[in-house]
Amino acid sequence: MEMNASQIEEIVKQVLSNVSGIPSVSSPSAEIPQTVKVGMLTELGKMEVKEFPMPQVGDDDLLVRVEGCGICGTDSHEYKRDPFSLIPVALGHEGTGEIVKMGKNVKTDSAGKPVKVGDKIVTCMIFKDDPDITMFDLNKKNVGGADVYGLLPDDEVHANGWFSDYILVRGGLGSTFFNVSDLDLDSRILIEPCAVLIHAVERAKTTGILRFNSRVVVQGCGPIGLICVAVLKTMGIQNIVTVDGNEQRMEFSHRLGASGHVNFTQHDGIENLANAVKEAFGGHLADFAFQCTGSPAGHANVYKFIRNGGGLCELGFFINGGDATINPHFDICSKEITEVGSWVYTLRDYVTTFDFLKSAKAIGLPMKELITDKYPLSRIDEAFKKAASMTGLKIAVMREDLA
Ligand SMILES: NC(=O)c1ccc[n+]([C@@H]2O[C@H](COP(=O)([O-])OP(=O)(O)OC[C@H]3O[C@@H](n4cnc5c(N)ncnc54)[C@H](O)[C@@H]3O)[C@@H](O)[C@H]2O)c1
Ligand SMILES: [Zn+2]
Repeated sequence: MEMNASQIEEIVKQVLSNVSGIPSVSSPSAEIPQTVKVGMLTELGKMEVKEFPMPQVGDDDLLVRVEGCGICGTDSHEYKRDPFSLIPVALGHEGTGEIVKMGKNVKTDSAGKPVKVGDKIVTCMIFKDDPDITMFDLNKKNVGGADVYGLLPDDEVHANGWFSDYILVRGGLGSTFFNVSDLDLDSRILIEPCAVLIHAVERAKTTGILRFNSRVVVQGCGPIGLICVAVLKTMGIQNIVTVDGNEQRMEFSHRLGASGHVNFTQHDGIENLANAVKEAFGGHLADFAFQCTGSPAGHANVYKFIRNGGGLCELGFFINGGDATINPHFDICSKEITEVGSWVYTLRDYVTTFDFLKSAKAIGLPMKELITDKYPLSRIDEAFKKAASMTGLKIAVMREDLA
């Protein structure tokens, strides 16, 4: 039987894609649909799935088939208030998916690791020019989330956010992407919030106070505080007490590495609360505390849990949550507290996070249980309402067959 070149090529592709361990090399472009489904914030409190023509893939671009994307606090703020005036906007920056088509100039990710069709990637909102730059520096240069996938103003591409079935990662933009094929899907969805804690712990380490045998308080057991516990545990810190009012969240903190917990709602007055924290450490105050609530009262309280000469990392106020009243004499000066603030992360921290997630998995931490709810893209508005209800931990929007 005579075969032409394209028939032979097709057979070779089929054989290769059936060999286990070898990623599919069959050009998925044939299966790429004509249209892209994009989860768009079309008005305040309304996420809709819109359909647009599939964008062209330029020589420096990547077309990615999205697997899933976490809903971030920033997405919820956009949903409720649109502080960056971006509506209509394709949201979603905590996403991951598989490269299905590549421009001919794309050879490596932003860290220099080779990429090919079939690889799993994430993007990062920090640019490449300086690995130690943070969003704090970027905000001085860029208003809002310029060049951040999931916070890009809508344009003729439309496939600009990860709450979509495909996203176009554009070489022309300054933002960065990474090949994370060696991480499972849930870990990949958790990279962005985990990077916040890698950065916070790096900031904490600059105080010189945090040690293997430190007694550490983590105040707040939302996703941020819980991931903080997991990062500390993965580093080898054993003596961690969590403080929150939600028993279920604090119980979960034990599975991520906490050795004790204190329910702040069960102690009247800050003195009694501080004593309960002391008791949980066997009669000692904390050497170090991570403040992971957005509550001004939480900020004021946390100083009372720390010993003289101890340290504090305040990371709970991503946005302005109001003023807190402290006593500078008792809380900072006479105690000689060393305090650091922490906001977002650097590119270096982002890459460190990939290894953290592998280590956390290796020591058996149930990281994937941080994702409490998965919704298919078609039910994205419900997913946002669930996130707003604050009844789960991380809420994710998934490809229809992965939800
Ligand atoms: N630094 C950063 O870059 C960064 C990044 C993301 C989020 N954040 C901030 O981190 C904070 C936590 O985020 P999250 O997603 O975990 O939020 P969350 O609301 O899910 O969790 C906060 C937790 O704090 C608890 N809490 C509230 N008041 C308290 C108090 N007085 N004492 C003890 N516990 C108290 C709540 O019960 C809740 O479990 C938010 O305020 C967010 O703005 C900061
Ligand atoms: Zn985010």
